[in-house]
Amino acid sequence: MCGIIGYIGDKDATPILLNGIKKLEYRGYDSWGLAIIQDEIGLVKSTGKISEAKLDPLELEGRIGIAHTRWATHGGVTNENAHPHISCRKEIAIVHNGIIENYQEIKESLLDEGHCFTSQTDSEVIAHLLERYYHKSKDIKEALLATVKKIKGNFAFLAIFQDEPNMIVGARKDSPLVLGLGKDEIFLASDVLSFIEHTDKVVFLDNLEIAMVKKGSLRIFDFKGKEVQKGITQVAWEASDVSKKEFAHYTLKEIYEQYSSIKSSLYQDPVKLREFCKSIKEAKKLFITASGTSFHAGLVARYIFSKISKVYCEAILASEFSQIIEWVDKDAVIMAISQSGETADVLNAIKGAKEKGAKILSIVNVMNSTLDRESDLAFYLNCGPEIGVAATKSFTAQLTLIYLLAFAMANDFIGVNKLRKLNDYVEFILKEEDKIIEIADKYKVSNDFYFIGRSIHYPIALEGALKLKELSYIHAEGMAAGELKHGTLALIDSKTPVVVLNPEDNTYYETLSNALEMKARGAKIIGVSNLINEVYDDFILLPKIEDSLYPIIEVMPLQILAYHIAIDRGADVDRPRNLAKSVTVK
Ligand code: AGP
Repeated sequence: MCGIIGYIGDKDATPILLNGIKKLEYRGYDSWGLAIIQDEIGLVKSTGKISEAKLDPLELEGRIGIAHTRWATHGGVTNENAHPHISCRKEIAIVHNGIIENYQEIKESLLDEGHCFTSQTDSEVIAHLLERYYHKSKDIKEALLATVKKIKGNFAFLAIFQDEPNMIVGARKDSPLVLGLGKDEIFLASDVLSFIEHTDKVVFLDNLEIAMVKKGSLRIFDFKGKEVQKGITQVAWEASDVSKKEFAHYTLKEIYEQYSSIKSSLYQDPVKLREFCKSIKEAKKLFITASGTSFHAGLVARYIFSKISKVYCEAILASEFSQIIEWVDKDAVIMAISQSGETADVLNAIKGAKEKGAKILSIVNVMNSTLDRESDLAFYLNCGPEIGVAATKSFTAQLTLIYLLAFAMANDFIGVNKLRKLNDYVEFILKEEDKIIEIADKYKVSNDFYFIGRSIHYPIALEGALKLKELSYIHAEGMAAGELKHGTLALIDSKTPVVVLNPEDNTYYETLSNALEMKARGAKIIGVSNLINEVYDDFILLPKIEDSLYPIIEVMPLQILAYHIAIDRGADVDRPRNLAKSVTVK
């Protein structure tokens, strides 16, 4: 899952492309590169982060170019494997996001034809295939259609041709590709954020489409070569949404944005809400599917729909969804949850479910994302773009929306009003930051961390552990408190910090006894509750709120704890190693 961008216009392309891939870095950041149309195709690429790039833009002056930021899937992090990849005669350069599943067999046939490969990547076959077909037909459209027919897997790629210096072409299958229409300039990119400061007029390429872009002209065809007319969408996001403002990191900014994002996630279309409730009520089976943090929101939904709406449902990891597909049919409803709306496992799960006739309801943050466009009904989080790789504000917005749907299904308007008041408690939590910074400093050298909770607190224990793992690289495990005695208790000793989620609700005393069991084995207990207790070595105070609503509030101290431990350990919190914001490969 890489980030790609192309520019064609009157301005100097290099600074625009560099800035664009900087904005796309959350999709992958182990190496980068760009290619510019000059007398010949000018190329520069390097391992490491763009922000550390030492590039003399004059070296690569031009009006048309493509660029890439990489998240390695095939081939290590080397200059050779960085994109753009170039054809043997150096006349065609390409950048690619996705995975070419049949690249080895293609590579063998190209090697037999005498093509020379310079990388271990799957992507490089695209440059050589375009070269093979272009030299046969001398027709770029034909070469493009022949190439997309040949490759299997998921891809979005851009290409420039020395023979056609006024054109950029692109193709999309399962990986996102959008076009930005500016004044006398056109952008082609993995997402809107990379060019939002230039234009908010966007054309979303659908699956199995190619784009042929010349200055002032844009033509789109399907993979059969038939021309397709597309509408222009004005996107709601602005350039200021993608700035860090006064914060040191996007992650911290997005944690603090929860003061407004929880409220804005409640602004939902009542007609859609009614349609959602009706679909759920009529469904014979309800499956929730998602990945990572969004799956933790799905686990909370399972508890809340059961408790508040008296609706039974199953929450299935998107990567495991194919294992239960035989239970999905036209009477089933799938609720898919995804911040990016581009997570390949989730798209794959709903693709299978749609083929079985199921209805797809989704909760997404990115409008016009693939999941949004593939759904029968989509709810938006309204929390603005989330740049930090670790999901924070999108999670609490997902939870708030899930509670709103649960209360709506139960016609519980008191519950909805309680949701509206939640904001007051966000400030309470954010004020605890200094206290949490002290705790972070105390435990920053730990090698292992446990998070425990019962009932609706269990998914939050999972989320707390995930945040700590992905931000600080400390091994952390979230678990249902009742499971400790069945094995994990063996790992507990005097060096083990354990975060105990224990607000004053019907799980309070059972969880307290679990904390005492661990304390008896020397564990350091960090209590997260509205009630202090001597069992806690350290304590993070929560406000006293409606029992069922605690997940939305109690996760924030865990986000702040993970953030500060990561900072103390010198980690790059916005770009954790080996991760990417949107996982567009299976
Ligand atoms: C969470 O902090 C991670 N970035 C990751 O687990 C993420 O939640 C997962 O990849 C799902 O992403 P999505 O919500 O965009 O589908």
